[in-house]
Amino acid sequence: MYRFIKFATVNKMSYIMPEKENRLMNTNVGFYEAMLKRRSVYALGKDTSITKERIREILEYAVLHVPSAFNSQGARLVLLHGTESSRFWDIVRGILQKIVPPDAYPKTGAKIDSFDAGAGTILFFEDQDVIRDLSERFPLYRENFPVWSLESNGMLQYAVWTALETEGFGASLQHYNPLVDEAVRERWNLPAGWKLLAEMPFGASLGSAGEKTFLPVGDRLRVF
Ligand SMILES: Cc1cc2nc3c(=O)[nH]c(=O)nc-3n(C[C@H](O)[C@H](O)[C@H](O)COP(=O)(O)O)c2cc1C
Repeated sequence: MYRFIKFATVNKMSYIMPEKENRLMNTNVGFYEAMLKRRSVYALGKDTSITKERIREILEYAVLHVPSAFNSQGARLVLLHGTESSRFWDIVRGILQKIVPPDAYPKTGAKIDSFDAGAGTILFFEDQDVIRDLSERFPLYRENFPVWSLESNGMLQYAVWTALETEGFGASLQHYNPLVDEAVRERWNLPAGWKLLAEMPFGASLGSAGEKTFLPVGDRLRVF
């Protein structure tokens, strides 16, 4: 955590003092580079030089600083390392084996194996009790709170994904919820209000991301 605090202090100082402009620019380049480099990486390995403590720091930092509506802070995370991560993918396998046609299962199973081959998995949740409480206190925005909760969690997913990439990990975003919700809640004894939204397997990056196509950016942004 110390490293992060130090970094944040330097960044703030460079805003205050114009003579530190150069440092500010370097910081910005880092951010843009990180945006560019974050990709869906599916070829994952277990061997990484990054400690479990460091991953915990990244998640703590992201969950603290990603914004939420009314600063409601409804995001919840579960970090699964090693065999705990494998338990999650066992749950996914067990459920998919029951519903995927047998001839299609080998492909599905291979995909799950590739996620399980990573170092760990991060589970993203939103606490529905927080949404309920906000809706009661601010009825005018009742319909917005569930949407804002998803938007905020998406920001968190993006922040964590990009941070992992910056640290040298590969990761991807998966959605086996709601199929696995009940089994996950039971296995890790999680509060009933925590709603699972996404799963992020991560690990050593063993391959590059696939090619990506882009729509003309001029069709997607209008400037007036
Ligand atoms: C909201 C959202 C849901 C996604 N769901 C999945 C998913 O369930 N499985 C998957 O493999 N990738 C999923 N992705 C990843 C996208 O397919 C991927 O980000 C996109 O194709 C661009 O590729 P890139 O991540 O390499 O930039 C999701 C991405 C987003 C933003």
